[in-house]
Amino acid sequence: MNYQTPRGTYDILPEEIAAWHEMEEKIHTIAKKYHYQEMRTPYFESTGVFARENDSSDMVNKEMYSFMSGEESYTLRPEGTAGIIRAFDQHKLYGQELPAKLYYMGAMFRHERPQKGRQRQFTQFGVENIGAKQPEVDAECIALGIDIVKALGIQSVKVCLNTLGDDASRSAYKEALRAYFEPHLDCLCGDCHRRIKQNPLRILDCKVDHEQPIMADAPKLHDYLNEESKAYFQKVCDALDALKIPYEIDERLVRGLDYYTHTVFEVISTREDSGAQATIFGGGRYDHLVDYFGGPDLSGIGFAIGLERLLQLSKDDGYVYQESGNCDVYVIGLGEVGSASLAIANELRDAGFTVEANYLPRSLKSQFKSADRVKAKYIVIIGEDELKQGTINVKNTETKEQVTIPMDALVGYIKG
Ligand code: HAM
Repeated sequence: MNYQTPRGTYDILPEEIAAWHEMEEKIHTIAKKYHYQEMRTPYFESTGVFARENDSSDMVNKEMYSFMSGEESYTLRPEGTAGIIRAFDQHKLYGQELPAKLYYMGAMFRHERPQKGRQRQFTQFGVENIGAKQPEVDAECIALGIDIVKALGIQSVKVCLNTLGDDASRSAYKEALRAYFEPHLDCLCGDCHRRIKQNPLRILDCKVDHEQPIMADAPKLHDYLNEESKAYFQKVCDALDALKIPYEIDERLVRGLDYYTHTVFEVISTREDSGAQATIFGGGRYDHLVDYFGGPDLSGIGFAIGLERLLQLSKDDGYVYQESGNCDVYVIGLGEVGSASLAIANELRDAGFTVEANYLPRSLKSQFKSADRVKAKYIVIIGEDELKQGTINVKNTETKEQVTIPMDALVGYIKG
């Protein structure tokens, strides 16, 4: 049998894991600095959690991994927000301190065409801030994402910002789009024929039709915003200005998911070689998800970062991650000293060091080679004679200094 990873999935090998841990740790630290708390929800949910009422997104209509179990249809989560809000309502977290500030990190699944930066199983870090509809919250949310991007050394980014307005503005705009596109249906792809009925906003980010000349003259959303929506958006812009976060208003930015209202944003890499992974994170405000799942009428805002993209772009921009698999101490054993090596290794581990001990019958030379490979800072050598005398040889691989010391002085010596 010769199995490979399924298309669009990948293995993280031991040599790559230290970079993942370092990135994840940085993200946890920043999320906590903003006083967000981690929440974990299942990797699959009832399909209805994602496929809500007449949803027009590609994610729901084309990309979900769904399966039947008994009478119930389940879906591997394609994104984190819906599950978080389902759980927020299920556990009545709205009865606690608001806003609820929640974050999550884990695998998501979308049946997309795989390419660099686009997988079928990928990892997202996301935040959801629920219960505070204030422009400052929108700006703070973007600031949190920018902090993560900066902490990982990514320089070349652009914040794209837009508003989809409130319900009244959006429905006026949708009507205008319908009226505009209806006479041009023959220029549009089959999916857009569905979209015009379901949600004409989706036509604007159609991957097939986006270069069609009729797109250029389509009505502009901002012409349909009512005063309230305009005022909210202006305050979000003011808050970003106060934080000195530069942004570009992109009136065409509608985002690929259906639940957004008011603010939407995407932070993209401006590196020329970033290709399909250009969008590092994206998100926005949603006014109706909490009540959809049975909770009160609360608005939320959040975003999600694709961690594969984040890792790659940070490396491309020169961030150097720690290496995986390095050791503080390597214990070389010569002769019948296995249990003594084991005891020494564990004493050092108790003292907080990362220790590798060799128990295989190998030559001194080959054990030295292994110590070199794991970049041990200290090599401890124990032979049968030393064992009898209660001594041990220690080599500092950086200074090359080698000493023989009493065995019970070892931990103190290495602690320095
Ligand atoms: P999204 O734009 O669908 O939003 O995904 C957010 C990020 O996940 C993208 O910017 C990208 O970095 C990453 N991503 C998405 N699909 C893939 C893929 N196939 N392969 C690799 N990375 C991918 C959401 O998921 C929303 N839940 C964000 C949100 C949270 N909005 C409000 N709260």
